[in-house]
Amino acid sequence: MNPPQSIYDNPVFFEQYKNLRDHDTGLNAALEMPSLRALLPKLMDIDILDLGCGFGDFARFARIQGAKSVTGVEISQKMLTQARQRTHDAHIHYVHSAIEDFPFAHNRYQLVVSSLAFHYIQDFQKICGKIFDCLQNDGSFVFSVEHPMCTAWPIGWHTEADTSFWPVRDYQDESIRHTQWFVDDVVKYHRTTQTYVSTLIESGFTLHAL
Ligand SMILES: C[S@@+](CC[C@H](N)C(=O)[O-])C[C@H]1O[C@@H](n2cnc3c(N)ncnc32)[C@H](O)[C@@H]1O
Repeated sequence: MNPPQSIYDNPVFFEQYKNLRDHDTGLNAALEMPSLRALLPKLMDIDILDLGCGFGDFARFARIQGAKSVTGVEISQKMLTQARQRTHDAHIHYVHSAIEDFPFAHNRYQLVVSSLAFHYIQDFQKICGKIFDCLQNDGSFVFSVEHPMCTAWPIGWHTEADTSFWPVRDYQDESIRHTQWFVDDVVKYHRTTQTYVSTLIESGFTLHAL
């Protein structure tokens, strides 16, 4: 097993990522956040776990919607420092930990959320089992990952004549990818859509939306 990488603590990566998110020029605000939020259950009076919480945007949003508490787990000290500076709420708790090392308590939350963090996790099956166990009976798990079409062969957009496309190769090769995003050697783990879905079902989840 490879140790988790904390690429968001790389100063060059961090500054560029922060700039992207603070100016809403990424796909998060345009596509990912609205899609994920549309799938959420009612947040009123529930305890939520946010895995890979970044700057804590979701935690603050959830509290405005009436959530009882939000626990945000984050591997990057730089991201957490920003999250803490941007949050003034005694019911939001930030934990400096890799998702892989977080001590998930049994039957503790009604909702687990994760935005664009699981493609950094090597063993998705193990984490899914822990998430299932930490949820109460009627709990929900809502998450996003980088699209497997993009993680398969992550060289980015290719332009030919007046057409741009993202080539897909090695889709069935589920393994580590060393990618370039702001800096070299950003480590991600490629899994097929089938693996994401079947891992959830094998872990005990019932799939309501994809
Ligand atoms: C694309 S950012 C998304 C941040 C936040 N979820 C959001 O949507 O604004 C991915 C986050 O996951 C964190 N992360 C990556 N691998 C992690 C791991 N193994 N354990 C905990 N956090 C991790 C990164 O440090 C980063 O803050």
